[in-house]
Amino acid sequence: MSESSAGREATDSPGGIAGVFDRAAATYDQVGVRFFGIVAEHLVDRTAPRPGERVLDVGCGRGASALRAARAVGPGGRVLATDLAPRMVEGLRGLATDLPWLESAVGDAADPPAGPWDVVQASLVLFFLPDLRAALDRYREVLSPDGRLGLTWFGAVDTSWEAVHTAVVGGLPEADRPPRVTTAGPFSSVASLEDLLREHGYDDVVTTERRVDVAFTGPGQWWDWSWSQGQRVLLEAHERNGTLAALREAVDPLLEEWAAEDRLTWWTDVRCTTARRA
Ligand SMILES: C[S@@+](CC[C@H](N)C(=O)[O-])C[C@H]1O[C@@H](n2cnc3c(N)ncnc32)[C@H](O)[C@@H]1O
Repeated sequence: MSESSAGREATDSPGGIAGVFDRAAATYDQVGVRFFGIVAEHLVDRTAPRPGERVLDVGCGRGASALRAARAVGPGGRVLATDLAPRMVEGLRGLATDLPWLESAVGDAADPPAGPWDVVQASLVLFFLPDLRAALDRYREVLSPDGRLGLTWFGAVDTSWEAVHTAVVGGLPEADRPPRVTTAGPFSSVASLEDLLREHGYDDVVTTERRVDVAFTGPGQWWDWSWSQGQRVLLEAHERNGTLAALREAVDPLLEEWAAEDRLTWWTDVRCTTARRA
């Protein structure tokens, strides 16, 4: 999840990241693991949409943050939720039938619809964009004067899972290993992201961090969870390379041992950065 396939092709092509999420949509956020809702709560607490406001939620997935924003703005407000994965958008439509002021549409987070928007928000999305700088400029253009931008992204992760990570990533040919956004680029530190926002015409830049703990009921749920979200890109690569069975052989004994010891748990820190259009 904290990794990005860089390049325009990667986000547009069916084999790219939006294609991966489209194939994940049937189970995304529905395998009994509470994660995206907790992250979205952090984001919407911080963007704090008020009744009557207009919110654009980019990379909306099945609406973890868009649904929360829609409840906050109420029927006098408006939320437009967009995602490149059509099946995510369909899934959100099914969940929003009682919120007619929440619209959803297929759309690229890099090309936001004209505003003005009081809030532009993105939960666990912007590290997928090949040109974050251009997107920040576009969000600034579509925000109302004093409008707020909010995004969530990953901080530290539980290093006790390193053996699993090594099996998942190390078992793939170099070309299928996505770059780790945590070691380079604007998402490598709080300071680098905050500086970038200031450079692109934002102020009141603030980052908060919350640790999200995830407890898996068993190895099967870990696999279901992995197929249901961004990590799917790596599992599909194993499938293509014929190494999925070997991966299972490497990982399952570890998962079973941890489950038997009642420590099949994982955590990640999630950061939320908000800023105001200067
Ligand atoms: C980790 S999910 C987060 C979804 C949702 N915000 C949530 O918190 O549950 C990332 C989402 O970003 C979408 N996505 C990736 N690149 C995108 C782009 N360029 N434009 C729009 N959506 C994109 C994916 O299809 C996926 O639904």
